[in-house]
Amino acid sequence: MCGIVGYTGPREAGPILIEGLRRLEYRGYDSAGIALVSEAGDLFVEKKAGKLANLQTAIADRTPSAAIGLAHTRWATHGRPNDLNAHPHQDCTGAITVIHNGIIENFRELRDGLEARGHTLTSETDTEAIAHLVEEAYAGDLADAVRAALRQCEGAYAIAVMHRGETDRLVGARQNVPLVVGLGDGEAFLASDVAAILAHTRRVLFLEEGDVVDLRPWGATITNVEGAPRERAETLVDWSPEAAEKGGYDHFMLKEIHEQPDALRQSLAGRVSTSGRIHAPEVAALTEAFRRVTRVELVACGTASYAALVGAAAIQDWTGLPARVTVGSEFRYSPPPLDENTLVIAVTQSGETADTIAPTRWAREQGCPIVAVTNTVGSAITREANAVMFLQAGPEIAVAASKTFVTQVTTLIVLAAAIAKARGSLGLEQELELGQALRALPEAAARALELAKDVPAMAERYLGARGFMFIGRGYTLPGALEGALKLKEVSYIHAEGYAAGELKHGPISLLDLECPLVAVATRSRVYDKLISNVMEGRARDARVIAVATEGDQGIGRIADDVVWVPETHEALSPVLAVIPLQLFAYYTAVARGNDVDQPRNLAKSVTVE
Ligand code: M6R
Repeated sequence: MCGIVGYTGPREAGPILIEGLRRLEYRGYDSAGIALVSEAGDLFVEKKAGKLANLQTAIADRTPSAAIGLAHTRWATHGRPNDLNAHPHQDCTGAITVIHNGIIENFRELRDGLEARGHTLTSETDTEAIAHLVEEAYAGDLADAVRAALRQCEGAYAIAVMHRGETDRLVGARQNVPLVVGLGDGEAFLASDVAAILAHTRRVLFLEEGDVVDLRPWGATITNVEGAPRERAETLVDWSPEAAEKGGYDHFMLKEIHEQPDALRQSLAGRVSTSGRIHAPEVAALTEAFRRVTRVELVACGTASYAALVGAAAIQDWTGLPARVTVGSEFRYSPPPLDENTLVIAVTQSGETADTIAPTRWAREQGCPIVAVTNTVGSAITREANAVMFLQAGPEIAVAASKTFVTQVTTLIVLAAAIAKARGSLGLEQELELGQALRALPEAAARALELAKDVPAMAERYLGARGFMFIGRGYTLPGALEGALKLKEVSYIHAEGYAAGELKHGPISLLDLECPLVAVATRSRVYDKLISNVMEGRARDARVIAVATEGDQGIGRIADDVVWVPETHEALSPVLAVIPLQLFAYYTAVARGNDVDQPRNLAKSVTVE
């Protein structure tokens, strides 16, 4: 997730763009860059790795006068976070400048084609390909050239483009990544979100999928990529700048919960083809190791360890290899037997968790092949691994993980499929069924959010509970564990996550009217078994909240409250089931007046053992 801002108008563009970037820095800060064009058509570009302050130092006292410009704050996906890969990017002639947020999935083919046609690409990014495609298509009209370039691009993007010879014109486009237009008095703005432009205007056009905007100081013309006109209504935004950073939500946690459809889309970009084939090019070099290994050990902490449970179950199901999860703090000092035939998968959002890094390093020293699954480019875990799969979920600000849990699950599922494919144990039909379910998942997550509209009222109804017991079985257990962790983290109410069949072996004694049972009862191979366990709890007067699959006729008879989620592949069910549970935790915490984004005693990244 990167931040984009553009300006065209009579004022000095430089300071407006830098201030806009400051507001967008929460979206990523691997590097920042700016491009300015003077009225005479002179181009100035500066970009620096690291935080915005590095760019500010680099341009202090030498920012040229300009009435048009683009600026970008980067959160690395393709290419290391260095000066070279920082945006903006140019074409061969230096006339065209592009900034981009998102992922161009077919960038390898595009780059190969461009190089074969004589272009010189100087960065490792997918974005630079866009600049050269616009160069090829340019015949005097920037908007036409951008549309022609985008017709060749697949993936998710928000882009902003300018041409040195068209000194009052910006062209923007959006596909599955946010981009807004700000309309001022004789000036106009493009930005990833309204936070960047609120200081200048509150008149906003929210672009929609496939929109291309041709922007001049006096107004905007919107078309699709074919050039057919589109209309977007102007909105008057009344958010405070602080609320705008949170996308209008009260807290980052709520914003990040609602970002999950987009996070899934970005995370899956390039990993599942339209036909449903599953690809994990990042681990291709480990194909031989995947064939050779006899066991798989996953290491992770907290939320990441629950996502890892889904990964372990899928690896075991699809390969027949024993696969298990050990939390980092146990793995390091009571390690399982490790050798070159043990594949170790380290799962960590931050990539900096000491409890996960130490055992991974130990495993590397024992000769294990290692895959890291992380959200953070350049993080410590990436240096311990033979291959890294990035979540591509964008920065997560709230301490309580949400969008990184769902993208950890999907990334591990893609990895599990890659291991099984390497071993020849995942048939084509099975792969396509899973691939299609993955492709449908972002939409299903959006629907799960819609279906959860009664969760705030439900949270109010259960506010007096002494504690909660979350249960699941098989693939639904990790969702129950994560639901319980979310609730205790942000609401400070005790919640336990338990294997449903274990209830009767002890914890059932906790159940009564004041201790409700939260059953993750989505459709699965062990659904009937789980329902029997719910009945055991009900017989002890526990009120029952069920998360169930849409269309489940029977669940209403045994649950006091039901939250529906769409049907999906069983291995992906935790992604959808967790959504109402995240919201339940959030609204319970808000009702109790807690600091939701920074709960007491917690830190986003735990770098001590
Ligand atoms: O950055 P990591 O994924 O390694 O962090 C692991 C845990 O500290 C983390 O998941 C923690 O449990 C979160 N607070 C969950 O919301």
